[in-house]
Amino acid sequence: MPDATLLNQVKDFANRANPYPVYAKLRENPVSRQDDGTESGTWVASTHATIASLLQDPRVSSETLPPADRPRTGNPLTDLLVKPLKDWMMNRHRVFIFRDPPDHDVLRASVMHQFSRARIQAMRTRSERLVADLLDEKCGAREIDAVDDLAYPLPVTVICELFGVPREDEPKFHGWATQLATALEPDSLSDRKIRDENSRTFDAIGGYMAELIKEKRKHPQDDMLSGLANEATPEGVKMGDYDLIATSILMLVAGHETTVNLITNGLLTLLRHPDQLERLRQDPERAPRLIEELLRYEPPVQFRTRKTLSSIDIAGVTIPEGADLVLLLASGNRDGTVFPDPDRFDPDRARSRHLGFGGSLHYCVGAPLARFEAEAALTALAKRLKAPRLVEDPPPYRSGAALRGPEHLRVAIDGIV
Ligand code: HEM
Repeated sequence: MPDATLLNQVKDFANRANPYPVYAKLRENPVSRQDDGTESGTWVASTHATIASLLQDPRVSSETLPPADRPRTGNPLTDLLVKPLKDWMMNRHRVFIFRDPPDHDVLRASVMHQFSRARIQAMRTRSERLVADLLDEKCGAREIDAVDDLAYPLPVTVICELFGVPREDEPKFHGWATQLATALEPDSLSDRKIRDENSRTFDAIGGYMAELIKEKRKHPQDDMLSGLANEATPEGVKMGDYDLIATSILMLVAGHETTVNLITNGLLTLLRHPDQLERLRQDPERAPRLIEELLRYEPPVQFRTRKTLSSIDIAGVTIPEGADLVLLLASGNRDGTVFPDPDRFDPDRARSRHLGFGGSLHYCVGAPLARFEAEAALTALAKRLKAPRLVEDPPPYRSGAALRGPEHLRVAIDGIV
């Protein structure tokens, strides 16, 4: 594969701490073809207008997952009979972030029906309590790792509680969520080892969820999984078991590392802008506008991929049919034609049209919940950490280019109040 393209520079780990100069070069051509060794190439949309347009273009498909192909076991019976059947089921019941209408819309509507305002609001209060408990555990410490000590455990607990996963099973979800998040990195889709590991993880979590769904049917409780398993939408739609398993897994994965990164990128940015940290400490009401600016300035999801269903003329170029597309959301967020002085972190901007949660049909289902969790975490950190200082800047990053965020964020403190 040619290695000099700007897209490869985006993926290059050396640029993980600061990919924004590469994005600026990409924006010189709003849509550009990046040589990936294939005839059609990969096309990158890097300006706000082109990304927003492609997000809502029905000629653009989210069905980018290659056909399921689980690892061979060496057992002929399993490999010849069970594997093809399981692969077929997996293809038919993909998670809806990778599906187009009409299936996408039906599944999404079922989730939205259960993701009620009351449920999300309840998780707001719960997030505040969870954050307080996590920080209490670190009382007396002179250093915290904002990832391990707070940002990482919080979203798993929240999503497990929302879905009614028994508390004692929660630790299993940490490893599962981290492994499956790799499916959102485009290069992992062609990496055999990662795909095999993801299939095994999907089977493990899928087996667990199947049992839990049975339990929720027998003994429904007031949680989202019980609702999805037992109640139809007003249109009379009720998910079958396989879609329900896939959807539960999607919610867990989509809401985990993303939220971890929002909290961690948030604290990192605040520590780099101590005046903003101080203002938040003095006035917690500033949290919502600060979080919107973070979603623009350091978005946890830097890009999403798509495929073209037919050729598309846009910004003076023609993207051919069947081409791979990268929608560089984080670059659109730094587009100076939409956001004046785009490289400045400024929570007092006028209403932001950031792309941090995507847009259109696939706009993030968990956006309100993610905002509450980040608000709870950042306001508590601002209030309770005494004299916080970054131990390393930049901190070490996780490998992901699409889901981008620090692996650890060590903060020296004089105590926790
Ligand atoms: C800060 C945290 C989060 C960020 C930055 C984020 C970002 C995004 C983005 C950019 C998309 C669009 C994907 C695309 O266009 O292909 C998306 C979709 C999605 N998100 Fe989030 N997300 C976050 C938290 C959550 C949470 C907490 C949940 C669930 C509890 C969640 C569930 C989903 C789901 C199910 C989709 C797919 C929607 C669809 O395909 O219709 N997300 N998210």
